[in-house]
Amino acid sequence: MASSTETETKPFSVLFVCLGNICRSPAAELSAEGVFRDIVKKRGLDSKFQIDSAGTIDYHEGNLADPRMKAASKRRGVEITSISRPIRPSDFRDFDIILAMDKQNRDDIVEAFNRWRFRETLPDDAHKKVELMCSYCKKHDETEVPDPYHDGTQGFEKVLDLLEDACESLLDSILVENGHILNS
Ligand code: 4NP
Repeated sequence: MASSTETETKPFSVLFVCLGNICRSPAAELSAEGVFRDIVKKRGLDSKFQIDSAGTIDYHEGNLADPRMKAASKRRGVEITSISRPIRPSDFRDFDIILAMDKQNRDDIVEAFNRWRFRETLPDDAHKKVELMCSYCKKHDETEVPDPYHDGTQGFEKVLDLLEDACESLLDSILVENGHILNS
């Protein structure tokens, strides 16, 4: 159990998860990072966040993001440089919040937790850290960030619209619920 001093000095950690970790979650990581950096830098809180992304499958492990996702992000001024990795047991210990892009991702993440919890020492309630990304959207009614992999350009633009919307209020919500980030 972390002491309150540890909680207050440790960066707040956010993990974005999709299926392959080559489209949605790397873009979320970087979109979020852009939004985070913008606000966080203005407030001198750069060191207060740790951001990463992962996939529920390892098929693309070690690969750069999908070129179509990179191109769409670049058009909005965001460079995606992350390397795909699958979610691992320690993520349930290391991250404060885990954002799933769609309901199947959320179910797969919780299923992975249930598989690992008995052979790893994981907090009993770590599955409660898993939330749907679109639950933070303010300007869109969608409940999931759709899988763009088999889609055309429009799919990637839609992903970025949803991520930008969700990331703004995700950051607001984290700051409101974790007063120590701004106060320490
Ligand atoms: P992502 O997109 O989950 O947003 O990274 C996908 C990447 C790969 C595959 C499906 C979705 N795939 O079938 O390999």
